Amino acid sequence: MTEQRGATRQSGPAEQRRTTERRGLLGRLAARRAPRRVPGPLPRGAVAAEARDVAVRLGGRLVLDGVDLAANVGEVLALVGPNGAGKSTLFAALAGDVDVERGGVWVCGRPAEQWGAAELALRRAVLPQSSSLAFPFTVAEVVAMGRAPWAGTPAAEDDSRAVAEAMAATEVEGFAERPFSALSGGERARVSLARALAQRTGLLLLDEPTAALDLRHQELVLRICRRRAAAGDAVVVVLHDLGLAAAYADRVAVLSGGRLVADGPPASVLRAELLSEVYRQPVEVLPHPSGGAPLVVPVRPVGGAGPRGTEIAGDR
Ligand SMILES: Nc1ncnc2c1ncn2[C@@H]1O[C@H](COP(=O)(O)OP(=O)(O)OP(=O)(O)O)[C@@H](O)[C@H]1O
Ligand SMILES: [Mg+2]
Repeated sequence: MTEQRGATRQSGPAEQRRTTERRGLLGRLAARRAPRRVPGPLPRGAVAAEARDVAVRLGGRLVLDGVDLAANVGEVLALVGPNGAGKSTLFAALAGDVDVERGGVWVCGRPAEQWGAAELALRRAVLPQSSSLAFPFTVAEVVAMGRAPWAGTPAAEDDSRAVAEAMAATEVEGFAERPFSALSGGERARVSLARALAQRTGLLLLDEPTAALDLRHQELVLRICRRRAAAGDAVVVVLHDLGLAAAYADRVAVLSGGRLVADGPPASVLRAELLSEVYRQPVEVLPHPSGGAPLVVPVRPVGGAGPRGTEIAGDR
């Protein structure tokens, strides 16, 4: 692929798509009328989304520079790195939601900017890191919104099943009729995930889906990611918990300062030296007692800040 995208304009294709999506109901109705090519499944091993030499500038700052990353069908790809590294920006680029200054993004084999909003919504589902939307809807209605892109297509026959399955998988059926706005943070996160799952796209992009979740539901979400990958989807998940990435991802990509510094199987990427440098925090990497997946733990001084709050040398 040698196509290059032009420099960022004030209103590039991604920004225009976001405007359509922001139009809410009117935008969705317009999208339903727009001609759409309904996608079939991508072949195993195919690339579902790819960033090539991507640079993104936000507020005058280059926040991504020269990033190459592919999300492959049948694979869980974990995107990790410190706060501000550019994970959400890269995630938005892979979703076709941000205009790049240099390089290009391909979704399902086509330059992202060539897809319209309605066609993109049939190919990738996005769970953003945070949503400022205060939905005046019930949980069941919020999850059903994930089906909106399929309205008017043969796949709409599956709406009820897709919604029920997504709610069961995320364990939110118990509050199906409650207002979304009346849920706890973790409950809302699971409902938002259910909405993305109900969309049933071949590419699933989840930005920190486990951040607000308890231990049980963190494991549950990563098991869902594995199941989706096994069923032939490409899953990209942004995580801060490196233990979850090690246990569940096929590949881990590490971003630091807007650049990709590692991309490979967890055992080869999650090394103490690399992580200590990237996170500016000394860590040790130990084999998990069951299974041996890398466990990343911070180095703490023996007898350091214990229950009585003993001071750590250097923090004084
Ligand atoms: N709209 C914006 N204008 C200017 N700078 C921005 C904007 N959005 C993000 N940034 C900056 O871009 C950099 C990357 O942000 P990004 O949200 O991609 O980081 P992240 O790796 O997802 O971090 P976190 O782990 O905190 O979610 C940060 O330094 C951030 O301050
Ligand atoms: Mg982020």
